[in-house]
Amino acid sequence: MQKLIIKGKKKLFGSIDISGSKNATLPILAATLLTDKAVTLKNIPLVQDVYTMINLLKFIGLNIKISKKKNILKTSSNRKFKTLAPYNLLKTMRAGVLVLGPLLAKYRKAKVSLPGGCAIGARPVNLHLFALEKLGAKIKIKNGYMHATAENGLKGAIIKFPSISVGATESAILAAVSAEGKTIISNCAIEPEIQDMIVFLKKLGCNINFIGKRKILIIGTKKFKSTSHEVIFDRIELGTYLIAAALVGTKITLFKIKTKIIETEIKLLKKMGIKMKIDKNKITVFESGKINSVNIKTEPYPGFPTDLQAQIMVLMLRASGISKITENIFENRFMHVPELRRMGAKIITKKNTAYVTGPTNLSGAEVMATDLRASVSLVLAALNADSLTVINRVYHLDRGYENLEKKLKKCKANINRV
Ligand code: EPZ
Repeated sequence: MQKLIIKGKKKLFGSIDISGSKNATLPILAATLLTDKAVTLKNIPLVQDVYTMINLLKFIGLNIKISKKKNILKTSSNRKFKTLAPYNLLKTMRAGVLVLGPLLAKYRKAKVSLPGGCAIGARPVNLHLFALEKLGAKIKIKNGYMHATAENGLKGAIIKFPSISVGATESAILAAVSAEGKTIISNCAIEPEIQDMIVFLKKLGCNINFIGKRKILIIGTKKFKSTSHEVIFDRIELGTYLIAAALVGTKITLFKIKTKIIETEIKLLKKMGIKMKIDKNKITVFESGKINSVNIKTEPYPGFPTDLQAQIMVLMLRASGISKITENIFENRFMHVPELRRMGAKIITKKNTAYVTGPTNLSGAEVMATDLRASVSLVLAALNADSLTVINRVYHLDRGYENLEKKLKKCKANINRV
């Protein structure tokens, strides 16, 4: 397995282009199942999860390929699809479950592997099934698969989510857009990636509109157009590099972004004393002096994202005083803490709250990546630690960060993959 070797305490400067969003690309790829027409997607991040989703869609029967210019081309085809999403393609990429809604809507049946849990939690799919059953699906779980049928097709319904779920909101929308009649979904997740998927669905010809902050009205249709769409930038990658720049940057500019989408994160970094110049489509981070401790809790968008929790914890290690971070979304998302402790971090966890004492000097060590965002927090810690850090199992990183070493090397980081 590959490792990353990082020599810390090097000042970074230069610029970084932010890639397209993995978490927008995945549901939009699932949505391409709805139409037989040609579709072009642009600004696609070349990361493992996207390749896995493309392999799943090819297995199902789509003519789809990714170009070196980072575009995905799906050519028109009216070949009969397989209505199967096998375990070997879902075990590493849970978002594969999103093909269930479109396959059900189109073929009235689907057999989709139950996505495994992962390091950060059990990751149940009960809310996905709740929504699809409201739309008329019958779903039996057997031998690790969801066997779904909708003999008379999916029918529009009123869906009130008991709790907010990004994936379940996406599943409900992807099924309802071609169910028969009207669907109203309330208590939806409203992450920018879902809003980008809705922009794409409208381009396809879907009739879908927000009728409240977390309420969506859909009128089902069976007619879809050919279209092209540029995927939104990755706000989690942006947040990760903003924190890297705050930790060890002298002057770093981040391009290809829309700053209005990350107001919560910007407000928090300002509160911590990070010096930034904010423009509509770029941010420059300057060398920060004293960093202030803060208290944060992770929440659904527009709150502070759970996908930046591990990363901001590393910045808290640089802040003066005790910072607090409460993880409200996943039940086991402190896997980075024991690894950070091996680098000298002073972090105490009590249930879903971590108390981080700073400023702490980190020292290089051999550490283990456990999940996508925990892995990148180890990279951030390594950049700010003295001597060498070796990060094992970097395949976790490759699932969601495009050209990480290249982007950091371009800003003078001493980072190598072996
Ligand atoms: C999406 O996961 C993202 N993944 C996650 O990013 C992100 O952390 C998460 O949303 C929260 O923002 C993709 O978009 C591919 P949820 P998802 O359903 O949809 C519980 C990354 O690093 N729940 O909003 O799985 C669930 O256990 C990944 O890119 C149920 O109980 O998240 C969790 O506690 C990690 N039943 C909470 O809801 C369900 O049916 C929120 O999960 C579904 C979820």
